[in-house]
Amino acid sequence: MTKDDLVAAIAHIQDDEHQLPLTEIGLIRDITTNKDHAALSVLLAPNLASREQELQEQITSALQKSGITDVHIRFKHISNEEKNDIIAIKLNKTVRRAPTLMNSPLVAGDSGVTFIAIASGKGGVGKSTVTVNLAAALVKQGKRVGIIDADIYGYSIPEMLGIKELPQKQGNRIAPVESQGIKVISTGFFVQGNKPVVWRGPMLGKMLGTFLNEVEWGPLDYMILDLPPGTGDVALDVHNRIPQCAEILVTTPHPTANHVAARAGEMAIQTNHPILGVIENMSYFTDPTGEKHYLFGRGGGQKLADELNTKLLAEVPIQSSDAPEGSGSSPTLFRESSEQWHIFMELAASIVSKKVD
Ligand SMILES: Nc1ncnc2c1ncn2[C@@H]1O[C@H](COP(=O)(O)OP(=O)(O)OP(=O)(O)O)[C@@H](O)[C@H]1O
Ligand SMILES: [Mg+2]
Repeated sequence: MTKDDLVAAIAHIQDDEHQLPLTEIGLIRDITTNKDHAALSVLLAPNLASREQELQEQITSALQKSGITDVHIRFKHISNEEKNDIIAIKLNKTVRRAPTLMNSPLVAGDSGVTFIAIASGKGGVGKSTVTVNLAAALVKQGKRVGIIDADIYGYSIPEMLGIKELPQKQGNRIAPVESQGIKVISTGFFVQGNKPVVWRGPMLGKMLGTFLNEVEWGPLDYMILDLPPGTGDVALDVHNRIPQCAEILVTTPHPTANHVAARAGEMAIQTNHPILGVIENMSYFTDPTGEKHYLFGRGGGQKLADELNTKLLAEVPIQSSDAPEGSGSSPTLFRESSEQWHIFMELAASIVSKKVD
């Protein structure tokens, strides 16, 4: 029995509180299977401890019907963060796509634009670095590329690409700002006097809608979205509005640092979004003799890729800060001679040739 078989065997068992299958809202964790043996964890709110016995019986009996004789179940307390994720998944199942947004020519199935969202579990792992370098590498491959900086809490793309100007109005539409051949729209362009706009509820919904519908992107081959960390509203909004949007998860090499990243990935899976794969960033440091040093642990990217049943796309080494910076105006783009840039060029090439999809 594989993990998928196990999930299928217990897919009918519902969570009382949310009236959704346990497997769909991510309450079944740590699945291991081996011939006639299976082990798994069930996340449960402490106030639902009285359900343990019943769930134990339901799961055991379902698995026994599928030929598993030895079932081991652990019950774990659910965290607040995990509760929020369930709410997000539930919301996503009930909130229908806004009809007007489906008309956006950019998002239409025949637009020819490939959407790729760059996501991560936590902040500071290199999402924005991946966004700009992947975009630049795709431009180098002759592609027309846009970036939507949708990180409402920590927009950084304009600064990273050395953009000083604001987008211009073009009739009643907005023209993206171009830098390094990349067309950019950022939440940061719409922040007044350095005071962050409070993007909540309807405003937040409007943000992505505006960026997709009211920006004059012109013809594009790729649109890269830099998402805020975690599985919040923006990720959900992207999942809803751009159903075909694929996802790349960025993580650090530490094998235990990935629970939140895994949840971000699980959300993509729950909402039927393709995951292109995992990029492990800051994987190692190559010293001048060519020896690699794994400063932040090892194996985290592969582990996450395995958990999500996807590929490890790249391991991006740490760029030493005393190296000559940038490929010109921007310190965040890796030098064209660097190991890092080479990795992004290879990744872009495999995305273009659809070796990765
Ligand atoms: N491979 C690397 N080598 C060296 N420095 C890196 C590397 N990748 C990212 N950095 C640096 O690490 C910091 C965090 O990267 P970045 O801003 O891309 O992360 P992020 O996930 O977008 O963060 P946030 O959650 O704040 O948006 C930046 O200062 C960036 O320049
Ligand atoms: Mg960022």
